[in-house]
Amino acid sequence: MPRGALIVLEGLDRSGKSTQVDRLVAHLQASGRDARVHKFPDRTTSIGQMINSYLQSKSELDDHAIHLLFAANRWECAAQIEKDLAAGTTVVCDRYAFSGIAFTAAKVRRDTRNWGLAALQLSKANDCAAGLRVSRASSELAVNWWYSLARLTPILPPLLSTHATTDTSQGIDFTYCLTPDTGLPLPDTTLFLTLSPEVASKRGAYGEERYETLDTQTRVREQFALVGREMAARHPGRWEEVSAEGTMDAVEAKVWTRVQAVVKRVEAGGEGSELGRLWV
Ligand code: TMP
Ligand code: MG
Repeated sequence: MPRGALIVLEGLDRSGKSTQVDRLVAHLQASGRDARVHKFPDRTTSIGQMINSYLQSKSELDDHAIHLLFAANRWECAAQIEKDLAAGTTVVCDRYAFSGIAFTAAKVRRDTRNWGLAALQLSKANDCAAGLRVSRASSELAVNWWYSLARLTPILPPLLSTHATTDTSQGIDFTYCLTPDTGLPLPDTTLFLTLSPEVASKRGAYGEERYETLDTQTRVREQFALVGREMAARHPGRWEEVSAEGTMDAVEAKVWTRVQAVVKRVEAGGEGSELGRLWV
C-alpha cells in the first residue's frame, strides 16, 4: 500500500487557510482517499494549552521559550502523523514548522527600540534624577531621549547591552528558528497562501490574538519569503505560492489541482516518493 502524502497549507492570519484545509480534505475524501487534518498549534495538548494562553495574552513567555513550545507541539504529534502516513492516510496540516520560523524571526530585532527600552529599564532601576523618570504617557519621547543619551555617553552602551540581552522583544536568529524542527516529517508540498497583510487585516475577527496586527503580519510576510527561499535551496519543488486574493472557490480549485498532482506522485511510488526529513 502506498503511503499517504503530507500536505501543508501556510499563510498569514486570516488568509483563508483553515477554510481551504477543510475544502481540501473534502476533495481528498470525495476522491476516495483517507484524509486527516492536523492543526498547528494543536491547542488540545498540555503544551498546546500553554501556547493558547500565550496567544491570548493571558501569559507571558520568553521569545525562545514560546518558539520551542511551538516546535515541541509539532514533535508531540509527529509520531501520529507518521503512523497515519504509513497507513495510507493523507495528512493535511494547517500551519507547520514554517509558521514557527516566520513568526519568531519576525519579532522585533535588537535595534534602537531595544536600546531605548534598555535605557528605560536602567532609568527605572536606578531611579536617578527626576529628569530621568518617565511617565507612561511620555515614555515614547523619553525612550528617544534616553537613546540619544546612550549614544552620546561612552560608558552607557556596555551597561545597557546587559539589559538589552535580557529584553525578550529582541529578534531571534533565522537559523536558530529553524533548528528545533529539524528532522520532522518533510511535507511533500507546502502551499503558501499569499494575501496582502492589508487585505487580511480587514477580515472578520482580526486582532483577537497576539500576532494579529498589521505591523507584525507585514514582518511575518517578509520572513515567509525567506522561508520560501530556504525551501528552494534545501528542498526544491516543495514550496509553492498560491494567491489567496480571489474567491474562496477559485482558491479551492487552485489548491486542489496542485495537491492532486502531488498525491498522485506519492501514490505512484518510485524515486523520491519516500518520506523525507525537514532540513536534513
Ligand atoms: P492559528 O491562528 O492558525 O491558530 O495560529 C495561531 C498563531 O500562532 C498565529 O498567529 C501563528 C502563530 N504561530 C507561531 O507563532 N508559531 C508556530 O509554530 C505556529 C504553528 C503558529
Ligand atoms: Mg490566527
